[in-house]
Amino acid sequence: MNNIKDYVSANKDRFLNELIELLKIPSVSADSAFKQDVLKTADAVKESLEKAGCDKVEICETNGYPIVYGEKIIDKKLPTVLVYGHYDVQPADPIELWDSPPYEPVIKKTELHPEGAIFARGACDDKGQMYMHVKALEFMTSTNQLPCNVKFMIEGEEEVGSVNLSTFVKNNHEKLKNDVILISDTGMIAKDVPSITTGLRGLSYVEVEVTGPNRDLHSGLYGGAVANPINVLTKMIASLHDENNHITIPGFYDKVEDLSQEERAEMAKAPFSLEDYKKALDIDAVYGEEGYTTNERNSIRPTLDVNGIWGGYIGEGAKTVIASKAYAKISMRLVPHQDWEEITELFKTHFESIAPAGVKVKVTPHHGGQGYVTPIDSIGYQAASKAYEESFGKKPIPQRSGGSIPIVALFEQELKSKTILMGFGLDSDAIHSPNEHYGVWNYFKGIETIPLFYKYFTELSK
Ligand code: BES
Ligand code: MN
Ligand code: MN
Repeated sequence: MNNIKDYVSANKDRFLNELIELLKIPSVSADSAFKQDVLKTADAVKESLEKAGCDKVEICETNGYPIVYGEKIIDKKLPTVLVYGHYDVQPADPIELWDSPPYEPVIKKTELHPEGAIFARGACDDKGQMYMHVKALEFMTSTNQLPCNVKFMIEGEEEVGSVNLSTFVKNNHEKLKNDVILISDTGMIAKDVPSITTGLRGLSYVEVEVTGPNRDLHSGLYGGAVANPINVLTKMIASLHDENNHITIPGFYDKVEDLSQEERAEMAKAPFSLEDYKKALDIDAVYGEEGYTTNERNSIRPTLDVNGIWGGYIGEGAKTVIASKAYAKISMRLVPHQDWEEITELFKTHFESIAPAGVKVKVTPHHGGQGYVTPIDSIGYQAASKAYEESFGKKPIPQRSGGSIPIVALFEQELKSKTILMGFGLDSDAIHSPNEHYGVWNYFKGIETIPLFYKYFTELSK
């Protein structure tokens, strides 16, 4: 059986069942209650790589969760593809909003996935997409069609910032040496509009704390006479955008690259329906920075968003109180050339400077990472483009994504290689949300497309 389409058809049920088993393990990296499950998932990934034909697979311990490393080196003179993915998942909360339990995968049909989609936490981000690479490898090794060398590096801390992976990469240049890095952890425009992600946004994530009086106070006895930290915090946050929804932090836009009119016109050619977009989200209008389209706002422009805000009384009924403290978690999505550490500093300085007398402000940086753009004239991009063209029957469109995979910029810095982002998810797959799912069609299409990338990359590298 030499044809990938035939191989996938003949193994459909097994490919689905293996992924379903992997999805049953709740590998939530953010919550230590799931520690044993995260470790168990690493073992399962190791075993799957061994079965798929890797010659050497190891669990590499770190100060956090382990990295699963595997390789199949067929000839040192041939190019080497390094596959990166992650086996950890986001927390499933709020669990009550799931239609079926997050770790009991079920296949259901949806409007966009009439062939069915697997519903489970991690189905698309990233177990389903990572596992396509394992199955593509299985096909290539079992049919003797692996055209080059391959290395796998699957981590368990992507959703919490990949801190230990950074150290691993810095300390293992030789082991990880490669000619191109291949990742499926992004999306594509639509099933009939294949696209390759050429850009990712950077990220700066901070937590802020505003402290007023030294204890919670009676809001009648003290109200009006002391600063209320929640009132102050919300006012400070509101002032971070002006009336055009530009961010007001001084220097914030200094390094933002302005795309040429030609590039913007090129981007605008990607099919997009504002009506469908609004309908899918049940909103009557979009909202954002003046002067930019929706697709520009969520990809080539930086943003600042509150991800969570709390303080005071939120229990049942009413309690008359002025809280001593108020908190918020704030993320800034950055575009290439903006440096996340510099932006974090700018935020901190500005946020502290706008605090009124009567409160103390503390800004604690969490994590972050640089954005990424990759050219479309590289061998890697060309190989990916040919692979999509063959499997989808259509040339893919380059697309800048709004999401972040901070480790990609570090790969380029440390390993000096470009990353090709071949994502097969859809924005509507609800990653990080309740009812995350991954189309069965997308899963199989990914498995079919990946071996073609290896083939064309090897050919073009000659
Ligand atoms: N796979 C996503 C990133 C992504 C999704 C990029 C879709 C492009 C399209 C990744 O797992 C993720 O969630 N990244 C985080 C950043 C990380 C530092 C926690 C993100 O983008 O919020
Ligand atoms: Mn991911
Ligand atoms: Mn994610």
